[in-house]
Amino acid sequence: MKTLITNGTVVNATGTAEADVLINGETIAAVLAPGSALLGFDVASNVDRVIDARGKYVIPGGIDAHTHMEMPFGGTFASDTFETGTRAAAWGGTTSIVDFVVQYAGENVLDQYALWHQKAAGNCAVDYGFHQILSDVQDSSLTAMDELLNEGVSSFKLFMAYKGVFLSDDGQIVKAMQRASENGSLMMMHAENGSVIDLLVQQAIERGDTSPYFHGTTRPWQTEEEATHRAIMLANLTGAPLYIVHVSAKQAVEQIALARDRGQNVFAETCPQYLYLSLEEQLGASSNQWGDFEGAKWVCSTPLRSRAEGHQHHMWQGLRTNDLQVISTDHCPFCMKGQKDMGIGNFSKIPNGIGSVEHRMDLIYQGVVMGEISLPRWVELTSTTPARMFGMYGKKGVIQPGADGDVVVYDPNGHTSIGIGEGRTHHMNMDYSAWEGFEIDGHVDTVISRGKVIVDGNQYLGSKTDGKYFKRGLSQYLI
Ligand code: URP
Ligand code: ZN
Ligand code: ZN
Repeated sequence: MKTLITNGTVVNATGTAEADVLINGETIAAVLAPGSALLGFDVASNVDRVIDARGKYVIPGGIDAHTHMEMPFGGTFASDTFETGTRAAAWGGTTSIVDFVVQYAGENVLDQYALWHQKAAGNCAVDYGFHQILSDVQDSSLTAMDELLNEGVSSFKLFMAYKGVFLSDDGQIVKAMQRASENGSLMMMHAENGSVIDLLVQQAIERGDTSPYFHGTTRPWQTEEEATHRAIMLANLTGAPLYIVHVSAKQAVEQIALARDRGQNVFAETCPQYLYLSLEEQLGASSNQWGDFEGAKWVCSTPLRSRAEGHQHHMWQGLRTNDLQVISTDHCPFCMKGQKDMGIGNFSKIPNGIGSVEHRMDLIYQGVVMGEISLPRWVELTSTTPARMFGMYGKKGVIQPGADGDVVVYDPNGHTSIGIGEGRTHHMNMDYSAWEGFEIDGHVDTVISRGKVIVDGNQYLGSKTDGKYFKRGLSQYLI
């Protein structure tokens, strides 16, 4: 099958060009001067399908480098399976995800990795790769890090929070970092000071401060800044490259910027929720001073931060200055009924997570409309840098000959109303939307995954067997 996308504006991280894109089979074959004429040869009449992208942007498919499909967490499972979550991703213009294999203390890393393949294989609408979570860092986990590298798992996430669930102590962190520095893999860090948070949570519950709002106040920015600084120091000690996940505090960005200015291989992502949502809005307009249980919809970690303190503004700035390099979702959805409601009367029992895999490309495009970032920067943050950061670039993250035919036609004159109320809908398996009422001045029109049109306007044409495992290489972003 040969597809020609004609008359559009191709947007890569490096800039924009009026050009036609020819996809042959699963691969981009050519990026052509407009008019589809190549040395007098009329390309348009020699293809199977022509997509007219006049007035639209033609961008590399989005890459969401931080998802948790059907993750066992907080006494339940994230509500999107690989099937529902990757289909929702496709609807939103994301053609690759990198999901986290979970290893809890005592579990064998390679067994867990095999289990995640079982869950994902034959159930994905778009291509997928894996990061590996390490919790207790056993000796066998260290050898597994080498073995997983050969399997295309080149990044490992550790947690400085969630004691008894995920937390690795500093010695364990150093051990894993030493191995990463030897084998070239990338360490990812959930940077929050877990023991301080556990204490503040216990004190809040004892005081009777039990509403979801207190999830945020018991994870103050100091716990994020301190852990971010500590992770950077441990990475510095060991020489391991470090990627901080889901950054929400401006003080954490400052630590990251300092380390980068010193020339250290330190990188970070933020997520749409930290750009648009805040602790004040989570508190809501309830008659109860400390909010009602509605606030559970936005319980995630790191938490939403105060708008009065200016964190959101600082995140956009960090994205412009490249102190933050990637926007992922940390897609970890839970329904209010039967899942989040486990925390009624005690916010610490609310499963942590927000679902956004379907909306990331739209929400960040809105940043272009608002003048926060440029059009090429939108593509860079949501596709090109994730590809480079996680060893997928060349095949993913760019529109150029030889790359996978993962292409999105985006209509800047279209409109997207996000939410599930009043005739709106989403495709994520969630009984609410964390983004209810968000209006986007743009729309995902056509989504092509390795040459196959999987979304065409309002029609879904994909299947759960379209997505393939992507064997990643080492990071292509290191200094
Ligand atoms: O609230 C969150 N972030 N849930 C998912 C687990 C994690 O820490 O990424
Ligand atoms: Zn995390
Ligand atoms: Zn996460």
